[in-house]
Amino acid sequence: MAGTDRHKDKPAASRRTVLRAALAAGGAAALGRSALADAGNPANQPPNVPDWTRNLGDGVAVRAYGKPSKHEAHVIRRDVEWLTASRESSVSFTPLHELDGVITPNGLGFERHHSGIAEIDPADYRLIIHGLVDKPLIFTLDDLKRFPRVNRIHFCECAANSGMEWRGAQLNGCQYTHGMVHCVMYTGVTLKTLLDEAGLKPKAKWLLLEGGDAAAMTRSLPLQKALDDALIAYRMNGEMLYPEHGYPARVVLPGWEANMWVKWLRRIEVGDQPWHHREETSKYTDLLENGIARRFTFVMDAKSVITNPSPQAPLRHKSGFTILSGIAWSGRGKISRVDVSLDGGRNWRPARIDGPAWDKALTRFYYEFDWDGRELLLQSRAIDETGYVQPTKNELRKLRGVNSVYHNNGVQTWHVHKNGEVENVEVS
Ligand code: MTE
Ligand code: CO
Repeated sequence: MAGTDRHKDKPAASRRTVLRAALAAGGAAALGRSALADAGNPANQPPNVPDWTRNLGDGVAVRAYGKPSKHEAHVIRRDVEWLTASRESSVSFTPLHELDGVITPNGLGFERHHSGIAEIDPADYRLIIHGLVDKPLIFTLDDLKRFPRVNRIHFCECAANSGMEWRGAQLNGCQYTHGMVHCVMYTGVTLKTLLDEAGLKPKAKWLLLEGGDAAAMTRSLPLQKALDDALIAYRMNGEMLYPEHGYPARVVLPGWEANMWVKWLRRIEVGDQPWHHREETSKYTDLLENGIARRFTFVMDAKSVITNPSPQAPLRHKSGFTILSGIAWSGRGKISRVDVSLDGGRNWRPARIDGPAWDKALTRFYYEFDWDGRELLLQSRAIDETGYVQPTKNELRKLRGVNSVYHNNGVQTWHVHKNGEVENVEVS
């Protein structure tokens, strides 16, 4: 039965005319509709009855695994071609301007792989713990699932996020300037639980974490962090990890740079000092102006970005009530405040944080204002619970020069033009 008789009669044309007249006379605002009220296909709009009301839709289980509406097909991870030397060793970016709230959907979190995605059969998955332990151990995935579980929501940010912006405004879109961050709920076992099981020798000070991908990526982790709050996670947002995020198990290091969050984790060796890594120990260091490198800069400092409006999400109305939105996060704890400026940092007003402001997690802020239609220089700055205030890019450059591509947490500026288009700029 497709459609009912009730819907088959087309309403009289005169009603439509009346409605249009009401809208034109300023009824639009009262109905909560914008200047876009004329967009789309009138045949689907009141007073007409669209096909989706006339016809039955798919029943349950036709879409056995749900996905977003086909009208949201533009909401995808993207890469930057000139940044991507090969598809395997590359990065894709979270579409931050298309998301709201604080949780990143499992299919949209940025990916960074040094040798592509390892497709691991969970039956063959093994995690080895050895070195300075009383009892070397090998865990299957089922073994990991039989240890007491914890659920933790944390952001994961690559140290190179915003790295292309050190020398000046470069990429036009928060997806590209800030999209190497995501935030999900991880389920797993604390690393401490596993290390207790193996028993640490008194000399233990550092761990080697090794991935099972073709990069066999290794990282040195100070034991203190491992015992503090590190996890071995196998679920994200309730689902098993997706292959691109390390299925079936990865390391989670709350607040620390993502390059140490080893994916497809297969081996943990306990030692008494950091390892020299085959793959560029020097690379994840921050080269200063004087040639000396900052090393072991593990913690991600507080940062924020306005996701809407932004270059990929311009303002479509010419003026009037405007919602500004963005995210803030800190590797040192909770976000306690976010300030917003409409004039390039001259005046600051507190933004409204809405939703949870969890420890070391993305935090959502809004700022609603009446746009007078003039040009804007939008900025946001995050303040975390330690009192740390997100610095400007120039303050950071004074301290660190421009040789590094890592740890750029400077304030971002978006130039909103009169026509609503938005551009990545810098203010001095
Ligand atoms: N782990 C392995 N085994 N191989 C890798 O290439 N890349 C690291 C880290 N862990 C990587 C890895 C880097 S540099 C980052 S930024 C994060 O994984 C990215 O995690 P994601 O792909 O889940 O966003
Ligand atoms: Co990285």
